[in-house]
Amino acid sequence: MLDIRIEKTTNPKPIPAPGEPLGFGKIFTDHMFIMNYTEGKGWHDARIVPYQKLELAPAAMVFHYGQEMFEGLKAYHGANGGTFLFRPDMNAKRANDTNRRLCIPEIPIEDFVDAVKAVVKVDEAWIPTDPGTSLYVRPFIIATDEFLGVAPSKTYLFMVILSPSGAYYESGLDPVGIWIEDEYVRAVRGGIGFTKTGGNYVASLAAQVKAHDEGYSQVLWLDGVERRYIEEVGAMNIFFKINGTVVTPMLTGSILPGVTRNSVIELCKDWGIPVEERRISVEELYEAQQNGQLEEVFGTGTAAVISPVGTLRWKDEVMTIQDGGIGELSQKIYDTITGIQLGTLDDPKGWRVEVK
Ligand code: COI
Repeated sequence: MLDIRIEKTTNPKPIPAPGEPLGFGKIFTDHMFIMNYTEGKGWHDARIVPYQKLELAPAAMVFHYGQEMFEGLKAYHGANGGTFLFRPDMNAKRANDTNRRLCIPEIPIEDFVDAVKAVVKVDEAWIPTDPGTSLYVRPFIIATDEFLGVAPSKTYLFMVILSPSGAYYESGLDPVGIWIEDEYVRAVRGGIGFTKTGGNYVASLAAQVKAHDEGYSQVLWLDGVERRYIEEVGAMNIFFKINGTVVTPMLTGSILPGVTRNSVIELCKDWGIPVEERRISVEELYEAQQNGQLEEVFGTGTAAVISPVGTLRWKDEVMTIQDGGIGELSQKIYDTITGIQLGTLDDPKGWRVEVK
């Protein structure tokens, strides 16, 4: 059990009232978790302190070479009381997969989960209760050595901040329009595409701006070598229902192994729906749509939950799915995952973890 010192704020901020629009990731709670790493000493000084600005040297390595990682999960008010997280051990394990790739020291799984639980408990009153809202939890690590050489840092900070949030997309569960990008690429095999680190997200910005200018809300990436095979949407993994089969790109090292992705695959298999994790080319997708076999498209992510896709733009072609509406399977998956998260449905797999 992580030994955490707690210093409560003497100046609490007003908690947003029910009904107040929250947006996503704009409001921060009263406290944050913080822990230091020093080479030779390991992770130490775990504490929860008032949410505050950091003091870092301008030469801190994170600012120059991007040695940092982050995670994203959510805390919910249970329908029958209590506070819950959804599969936080999956985030802790993925955090260490990222850490190993980026030469950041690993954090024991139990310590990661303890840190999240402890800070969520302190700011439990900030968990919003309106439908579709939750407390978004953002754990992250930054390299803090004051040094301009390219090397792994010897000191780090691990922090967890909390943000009461609504839907990631302003449109909520309304289908989004997605731009299939065939000029820029996000990641290549052997690179860092599978990690959760700022570098993957900054690499997406130019294409995202282009997509926004064209009226689309997100970018669907193609593989970095042939620019044919579908990868992911940056803030989401992607799923297609083609002729009764659920197809999603396989994990090859260049896409994020999403917790929601994993949960959706398990649920579909439990329901007897065939699921294929494989390579799928944009040409195959286009053909399926032309033949009327592309039944549903949806993105999955912690922030986005399930996001139906209404249109896909590839070069000059616009593919419309479900006449731009929500598919039956997308809706069922959304209802099931949010039902398990909120405790209105049974949780036979033990995905819901109570914060006590
Ligand atoms: C999440 O879904 O939690 C993410 O980290 C995606 C992020 C870009 C908002």
